[in-house]
Amino acid sequence: MGFYARHVLPKVINTACAQRPMSELRARYVPRARGQVLEIGFGTGLNLPHYGVGDAKPASLLALEPAEAIAALAGERLAETRFPVRVVAAGAEEIPAGDAVFDAVVSTWTLCSIGNVYHALRELRRVIKPSGVFVFVEHGASPEPAWLRWQRRLEPAWKLVGGGCHLSRRPDELIRAAGFRVVELDTGYLPGPKFATFTYRGVAVRR
Ligand SMILES: C[S@@+](CC[C@H](N)C(=O)[O-])C[C@H]1O[C@@H](n2cnc3c(N)ncnc32)[C@H](O)[C@@H]1O
Repeated sequence: MGFYARHVLPKVINTACAQRPMSELRARYVPRARGQVLEIGFGTGLNLPHYGVGDAKPASLLALEPAEAIAALAGERLAETRFPVRVVAAGAEEIPAGDAVFDAVVSTWTLCSIGNVYHALRELRRVIKPSGVFVFVEHGASPEPAWLRWQRRLEPAWKLVGGGCHLSRRPDELIRAAGFRVVELDTGYLPGPKFATFTYRGVAVRR
Protein backbone atom coordinates (compact mmCIF):
# COMPACT_ATOMS: atom_id res chain seq x y z
CA MET A 1 0.00 0.00 0.00
CA GLY A 2 1.42 3.37 -1.00
CA PHE A 3 1.89 6.54 1.05
CA TYR A 4 -1.26 8.13 -0.36
CA ALA A 5 -3.52 5.17 0.52
CA ARG A 6 -2.00 4.78 3.99
CA HIS A 7 -1.67 8.39 5.14
CA VAL A 8 -3.70 10.71 2.93
CA LEU A 9 -6.82 8.87 1.74
CA PRO A 10 -8.05 7.95 5.25
CA LYS A 11 -8.00 11.63 6.29
CA VAL A 12 -9.62 12.71 3.03
CA ILE A 13 -12.45 10.22 3.57
CA ASN A 14 -12.83 11.16 7.23
CA THR A 15 -13.22 14.83 6.33
CA ALA A 16 -15.06 14.65 3.02
CA CYS A 17 -17.65 12.17 4.31
CA ALA A 18 -18.33 14.15 7.50
CA GLN A 19 -20.00 17.08 5.75
CA ARG A 20 -23.29 18.19 7.21
CA PRO A 21 -25.58 17.23 4.26
CA MET A 22 -24.13 13.74 4.39
CA SER A 23 -24.62 13.59 8.18
CA GLU A 24 -28.23 14.60 7.68
CA LEU A 25 -28.78 11.65 5.34
CA ARG A 26 -27.01 9.34 7.78
CA ALA A 27 -29.32 10.58 10.55
CA ARG A 28 -32.34 9.88 8.35
CA TYR A 29 -31.46 6.38 7.17
CA VAL A 30 -29.01 4.67 9.53
CA PRO A 31 -31.50 4.37 12.45
CA ARG A 32 -33.57 2.08 10.20
CA ALA A 33 -30.99 -0.64 10.89
CA ARG A 34 -31.83 -2.64 14.00
CA GLY A 35 -31.17 -6.10 15.40
CA GLN A 36 -28.14 -7.93 14.00
CA VAL A 37 -26.61 -5.38 11.65
CA LEU A 38 -23.89 -5.58 9.00
CA GLU A 39 -22.24 -2.44 7.66
CA ILE A 40 -19.99 -2.68 4.61
CA GLY A 41 -17.25 -0.14 3.85
CA PHE A 42 -17.35 1.00 7.48
CA GLY A 43 -14.77 3.70 6.73
CA THR A 44 -13.93 5.84 9.75
CA GLY A 45 -17.13 4.95 11.62
CA LEU A 46 -19.10 8.05 10.67
CA ASN A 47 -22.39 6.15 10.89
CA LEU A 48 -21.84 5.02 14.48
CA PRO A 49 -23.46 8.04 16.19
CA HIS A 50 -26.52 7.64 13.95
CA TYR A 51 -27.58 4.14 14.90
CA GLY A 52 -30.62 4.06 17.15
CA VAL A 53 -30.52 4.38 20.90
CA GLY A 54 -32.42 2.50 23.62
CA ASP A 55 -34.64 -0.26 22.22
CA ALA A 56 -33.81 0.87 18.68
CA LYS A 57 -30.08 0.34 18.93
CA PRO A 58 -28.51 -2.58 17.08
CA ALA A 59 -28.10 -5.79 19.06
CA SER A 60 -24.71 -6.02 17.41
CA LEU A 61 -22.85 -4.56 14.45
CA LEU A 62 -20.40 -6.37 12.21
CA ALA A 63 -18.44 -3.62 10.47
CA LEU A 64 -16.43 -4.62 7.40
CA GLU A 65 -13.65 -2.35 6.19
CA PRO A 66 -10.90 -3.69 3.92
CA ALA A 67 -8.54 -0.74 4.47
CA GLU A 68 -7.13 -0.96 8.00
CA ALA A 69 -5.59 2.52 7.72
CA ILE A 70 -9.11 3.90 7.22
CA ALA A 71 -10.74 1.89 10.02
CA ALA A 72 -7.94 3.02 12.34
CA LEU A 73 -9.53 6.49 12.41
CA ALA A 74 -12.73 5.08 13.92
CA GLY A 75 -11.19 4.64 17.40
CA GLU A 76 -12.87 7.53 19.23
CA ARG A 77 -16.28 6.87 17.67
CA LEU A 78 -16.01 3.21 18.62
CA ALA A 79 -15.11 4.13 22.20
CA GLU A 80 -18.29 6.22 22.45
CA THR A 81 -20.57 3.53 21.02
CA ARG A 82 -22.89 1.75 23.43
CA PHE A 83 -23.62 -1.44 21.50
CA PRO A 84 -21.25 -4.27 20.53
CA VAL A 85 -19.28 -3.59 17.36
CA ARG A 86 -16.80 -5.94 15.70
CA VAL A 87 -14.63 -4.38 13.02
CA VAL A 88 -13.24 -6.90 10.54
CA ALA A 89 -10.72 -6.19 7.78
CA ALA A 90 -12.72 -7.55 4.84
CA GLY A 91 -14.32 -6.44 1.63
CA ALA A 92 -17.96 -7.00 0.84
CA GLU A 93 -17.18 -9.47 -1.93
CA GLU A 94 -16.59 -12.22 0.65
CA ILE A 95 -18.60 -11.61 3.78
CA PRO A 96 -17.41 -13.67 6.75
CA ALA A 97 -20.90 -14.69 7.87
CA GLY A 98 -23.42 -17.47 7.28
CA ASP A 99 -26.56 -17.27 5.17
CA ALA A 100 -29.57 -15.17 6.27
CA VAL A 101 -28.14 -13.92 9.57
CA PHE A 102 -28.59 -10.13 9.47
CA ASP A 103 -31.74 -8.11 10.16
CA ALA A 104 -30.24 -5.13 8.39
CA VAL A 105 -27.35 -4.28 6.11
CA VAL A 106 -26.06 -0.72 5.77
CA SER A 107 -24.04 0.74 2.91
CA THR A 108 -23.30 4.47 2.75
CA TRP A 109 -21.13 5.93 -0.01
CA THR A 110 -19.54 2.49 -0.47
CA LEU A 111 -21.00 0.78 -3.56
CA CYS A 112 -19.06 3.33 -5.63
CA SER A 113 -15.75 1.94 -4.37
CA ILE A 114 -16.23 -1.81 -4.53
CA GLY A 115 -14.33 -3.49 -7.36
CA ASN A 116 -16.79 -6.29 -8.08
CA VAL A 117 -19.96 -4.58 -6.94
CA TYR A 118 -22.35 -7.13 -8.42
CA HIS A 119 -20.61 -9.92 -6.54
CA ALA A 120 -20.69 -7.88 -3.32
CA LEU A 121 -24.42 -7.21 -3.66
CA ARG A 122 -25.08 -10.92 -4.19
CA GLU A 123 -23.14 -11.51 -0.97
CA LEU A 124 -25.34 -8.98 0.82
CA ARG A 125 -28.39 -10.78 -0.47
CA ARG A 126 -26.99 -14.07 0.82
CA VAL A 127 -26.38 -12.85 4.38
CA ILE A 128 -29.53 -10.80 4.89
CA LYS A 129 -32.58 -12.49 6.44
CA PRO A 130 -35.68 -12.84 4.22
CA SER A 131 -37.32 -10.29 6.54
CA GLY A 132 -34.25 -8.04 6.57
CA VAL A 133 -33.72 -4.55 5.17
CA PHE A 134 -30.89 -3.16 3.09
CA VAL A 135 -30.43 0.52 3.92
CA PHE A 136 -28.37 2.45 1.40
CA VAL A 137 -27.18 6.01 0.84
CA GLU A 138 -24.97 6.15 -2.24
CA HIS A 139 -23.79 8.60 -4.85
CA GLY A 140 -23.81 7.84 -8.54
CA ALA A 141 -24.89 8.74 -12.04
CA SER A 142 -26.36 12.17 -12.58
CA PRO A 143 -29.75 12.20 -14.36
CA GLU A 144 -28.51 15.10 -16.49
CA PRO A 145 -26.87 13.76 -19.67
CA ALA A 146 -24.29 16.55 -19.80
CA TRP A 147 -23.17 15.84 -16.23
CA LEU A 148 -23.20 12.12 -16.83
CA ARG A 149 -20.81 12.65 -19.73
CA TRP A 150 -18.54 14.62 -17.41
CA GLN A 151 -18.74 11.87 -14.82
CA ARG A 152 -17.58 9.33 -17.41
CA ARG A 153 -14.75 11.60 -18.54
CA LEU A 154 -13.53 12.28 -15.03
CA GLU A 155 -13.98 8.75 -13.69
CA PRO A 156 -10.54 7.28 -14.55
CA ALA A 157 -8.68 10.11 -12.77
CA TRP A 158 -11.20 10.26 -9.92
CA LYS A 159 -10.73 6.55 -9.22
CA LEU A 160 -7.02 7.15 -8.71
CA VAL A 161 -7.48 9.86 -6.07
CA GLY A 162 -10.71 8.50 -4.58
CA GLY A 163 -9.71 4.98 -3.61
CA GLY A 164 -11.36 3.37 -6.65
CA CYS A 165 -14.54 5.47 -6.41
CA HIS A 166 -16.73 5.31 -9.55
CA LEU A 167 -18.78 8.40 -10.38
CA SER A 168 -21.29 7.03 -12.84
CA ARG A 169 -22.71 3.88 -11.27
CA ARG A 170 -26.47 3.47 -10.82
CA PRO A 171 -26.82 2.06 -7.29
CA ASP A 172 -30.57 1.45 -7.61
CA GLU A 173 -30.16 -0.59 -10.80
CA LEU A 174 -27.24 -2.54 -9.37
CA ILE A 175 -29.24 -3.35 -6.22
CA ARG A 176 -32.20 -4.57 -8.28
CA ALA A 177 -29.97 -6.62 -10.57
CA ALA A 178 -28.56 -8.47 -7.54
CA GLY A 179 -31.99 -9.76 -6.48
CA PHE A 180 -33.41 -7.00 -4.29
CA ARG A 181 -36.66 -5.07 -4.55
CA VAL A 182 -36.15 -1.37 -3.90
CA VAL A 183 -39.10 -0.41 -1.69
CA GLU A 184 -38.05 3.18 -0.99
CA LEU A 185 -35.96 5.44 -3.17
CA ASP A 186 -35.22 9.11 -2.94
CA THR A 187 -32.72 10.89 -5.15
CA GLY A 188 -31.20 14.32 -5.44
CA TYR A 189 -28.08 16.42 -5.46
CA LEU A 190 -26.30 17.38 -2.27
CA PRO A 191 -24.46 20.70 -2.17
CA GLY A 192 -21.13 20.53 -4.00
CA PRO A 193 -19.87 19.67 -7.47
CA LYS A 194 -22.62 18.08 -9.52
CA PHE A 195 -20.37 15.35 -10.86
CA ALA A 196 -19.98 13.82 -7.38
CA THR A 197 -23.10 14.66 -5.42
CA PHE A 198 -26.13 13.00 -6.99
CA THR A 199 -27.32 10.57 -4.32
CA TYR A 200 -29.58 7.54 -4.28
CA ARG A 201 -30.91 6.69 -0.84
CA GLY A 202 -33.50 4.22 0.29
CA VAL A 203 -34.37 0.75 1.46
CA ALA A 204 -34.38 -2.57 -0.38
CA VAL A 205 -35.58 -6.04 0.57
CA ARG A 206 -34.85 -9.50 -0.81
CA ARG A 207 -36.85 -10.53 -3.83
C1 LIG B 1 -16.13 6.91 0.39
S1 LIG B 1 -15.70 5.77 1.61
C2 LIG B 1 -17.18 5.73 2.62
C3 LIG B 1 -16.94 5.24 4.01
C4 LIG B 1 -18.19 5.07 4.88
N1 LIG B 1 -19.09 4.09 4.35
C5 LIG B 1 -18.91 6.36 5.09
O1 LIG B 1 -20.11 6.45 4.81
O2 LIG B 1 -18.28 7.30 5.59
C6 LIG B 1 -15.75 4.19 0.78
C7 LIG B 1 -15.32 3.04 1.66
O3 LIG B 1 -15.49 1.80 0.96
C8 LIG B 1 -14.41 0.97 1.31
N2 LIG B 1 -14.25 -0.12 0.34
C9 LIG B 1 -13.44 -0.14 -0.74
N3 LIG B 1 -13.52 -1.34 -1.34
C10 LIG B 1 -14.40 -2.07 -0.63
C11 LIG B 1 -14.89 -3.41 -0.75
N4 LIG B 1 -14.48 -4.19 -1.72
N5 LIG B 1 -15.78 -3.83 0.18
C12 LIG B 1 -16.19 -3.01 1.16
N6 LIG B 1 -15.75 -1.76 1.32
C13 LIG B 1 -14.87 -1.29 0.43
C14 LIG B 1 -13.24 1.93 1.35
O4 LIG B 1 -12.11 1.37 2.00
C15 LIG B 1 -13.85 3.11 2.07
O5 LIG B 1 -13.75 3.02 3.44
